[in-house]
Amino acid sequence: MPSLQNFTRSRSGSHFLDTVALSSREILSILKRAHEFEQRWRSQGTFLAADETARLHSKVVSCLFFEPSTRTRMSFQTAAYRLGHQVSAMELSSGSSLSKGETYGDTVLNIAAMEPDAIIVRYGHSPELDEVLPQLPMPVINAGSGTRAHPSQALLDAYTLLYDGVGHRVDALEGENVLIVGDIAHSRVARSNFDVLAKLGADIAVCGPSHFIPKDLPAETKVFSDLDEAIEWATVYMGLRIQLERHASAELNREAMDEYHRHFGLNHDRLKILAKDAMILHPGPINYGVEFSAEVIQDSRSRVLRQVGNGVFVRAALLERVLSENGKRQ
Ligand code: CP
Repeated sequence: MPSLQNFTRSRSGSHFLDTVALSSREILSILKRAHEFEQRWRSQGTFLAADETARLHSKVVSCLFFEPSTRTRMSFQTAAYRLGHQVSAMELSSGSSLSKGETYGDTVLNIAAMEPDAIIVRYGHSPELDEVLPQLPMPVINAGSGTRAHPSQALLDAYTLLYDGVGHRVDALEGENVLIVGDIAHSRVARSNFDVLAKLGADIAVCGPSHFIPKDLPAETKVFSDLDEAIEWATVYMGLRIQLERHASAELNREAMDEYHRHFGLNHDRLKILAKDAMILHPGPINYGVEFSAEVIQDSRSRVLRQVGNGVFVRAALLERVLSENGKRQ
């Protein structure tokens, strides 16, 4: 176990490792700030008002992604730059001393020793990091950890439903029936969404093969075995990526994927069943021909690329929150 005893810097800011400790009010406050960023970006081409820019102290944010990422990594970096901060990003694999056998825990401690103002981390299953990260003296943001949590993804999903939907509500998801379809058991996105969307008042159901449905679902979650029936219930369809990297290759050959798509894929016929004002989400990356047929992304109800864009505003709000001391904006 690496040592934390050499850190002398006093603790500043707060971590963002999970959504579980957030109240619905705090969630809405983060999303409201994200919406301010979006509005100013659309009207003035900047995230910050002139007086906020004048008060800005540019900070250094370190990005450590021990698992691959396109959306989360790039949107955190874009958000940091839009807020006037600097990013130092470690390359995965051969570009770092991980390739020499250095552990994740030692890697994190060495980056922390350089005293960045915040660290953004993505990692797979790692009890070592689960223990080390909360003890670091600077704010840490979880950019996806194992199958446990993807808190910023759940917040951007909620943002998309509240601010990018039919535009009638920005303070609750009561009346929304969110159907999550796919590999729930391996999905950190589903776990964080169970928490965030339920706090905002949505009803949640899951659908997928029985071995993809975890035993420890929140008690109020509905379970559908028939996708067509589930789609009739849904006002929001959230497809989840089948996580090929977390399954044995024999389980997921082409034949098995085709079979999955027949039973649990969103396709031309099922798009006709889905309500006309429903919303289609997917955290990406999409396995076409598995979770979605190719035409789904073109459907007017799809918000998949909007989710990605919204991620920048939401992650800017998160960065601002963790970098500001005592909850005050910098
Ligand atoms: N949604 C998501 O986490 O995508 P990336 O893996 O590309 O970051």
